[in-house]
Amino acid sequence: MITVTDKRELAYYLNCAGQEEKDLFQYAAGLRNRHLGNKVYLRGLIELSNICRKNCLYCGIRRGNTTLVRYELTDREVLAAARYAWEGKYGSIVIQGGERNDRAFVLRIEALVKKIKQLSNQELGITLSLGEQRAETYRRWFEAGAHRYLLRIETSNESLYKKIHPDDSRHSFPNRLKCLEHLQKCGYRTGSGVMIGLPFQTTEDLADDLSFLKDIRIDMVGMGPYLEHESTPLYACRQSLLPVPERLRLSIHIVACLRILMPHIHIAATTALQAIDPLGREKAVAAGADVLMPNITPFSKRKNYTLYRNKPCIEEGTEEGLRQLSENMAACRCRIAWNEWGDSLKPATSDGPDHLTPWEEATT
Ligand code: 5AD
Ligand code: SF4
Repeated sequence: MITVTDKRELAYYLNCAGQEEKDLFQYAAGLRNRHLGNKVYLRGLIELSNICRKNCLYCGIRRGNTTLVRYELTDREVLAAARYAWEGKYGSIVIQGGERNDRAFVLRIEALVKKIKQLSNQELGITLSLGEQRAETYRRWFEAGAHRYLLRIETSNESLYKKIHPDDSRHSFPNRLKCLEHLQKCGYRTGSGVMIGLPFQTTEDLADDLSFLKDIRIDMVGMGPYLEHESTPLYACRQSLLPVPERLRLSIHIVACLRILMPHIHIAATTALQAIDPLGREKAVAAGADVLMPNITPFSKRKNYTLYRNKPCIEEGTEEGLRQLSENMAACRCRIAWNEWGDSLKPATSDGPDHLTPWEEATT
């Protein structure tokens, strides 16, 4: 049995190698199988738009990047992608995009969510990943039928957060936390996560990130390596970064440690892993991840959703891509859970019902 009960143990396992590393991955994958079945859930990723009001120093679609062709999918394109996912038995979709909070946008998302529920006979699960919004907006979208929301904390270290974001009210760490609180209170299955291998980030920061995710009882985690983009301010720090293979190694270790720390949650094998290594996602599944997000954005648009360079998945979202993925999962001794949301999960351990947030607990 492997335990990661304190920061020292976490830091140890983040850096282990050889047989110990193999044992770590195998143990974590075994835990996933025991708690969730040896299943991998699909969430078809629809990249709605690369228009964003924010200016995060690491992100290729930040407002200040003028080298980018901006796009926005039409309603027709979003609905066609959703239908494709439903008919293809993906079970659920993620609508992700740059942050906007104008009224037209809020109403558009509400209407789109309703239409997607309608076209899929209420069957398709809908996850939103559209940044920081007012509590009222989160509620609107939840009532329209979205049931999950992803909002990465990016790093749980406030001083590091300040180093990778502009110093203004649009990029406030306390507000980020507040949004996560609103989402959980609203009833969403809430996901969060961090970037791994950021400039200035230490192993201790990463161990703290894992503890943070556990403390706030997050339901799903998407974590991936930080990948530098030449049209962003953080590119200036590229000399201080870990080599890319090291960032990959660390990311997979973190997936395994998180699985041990929170055996019952959903952990995504993220696209950024695949950007570094064509089999990066499979490696994450072999270390305990259970969610894949194949890109189903229309081909002509996805090349402009460049959070980082060398974004993969040009071939993704096709029948052939899915067949290949399914084969690769079989090689990891997992199978794709067609037509499932993967939501009706309760922790098998005694750390309390997973729908009770720390904020709710404090008031009960
Ligand atoms: N490298 C890796 N991940 C990035 N993201 C944004 N920019 C980068 C980058 N350069 C991630 C952030 C954000 C998510 C949508 O994409 O974690 O929350
Ligand atoms: Fe916008 Fe998200 Fe990129 Fe920040 S990370 S600039 S909020 S898309």
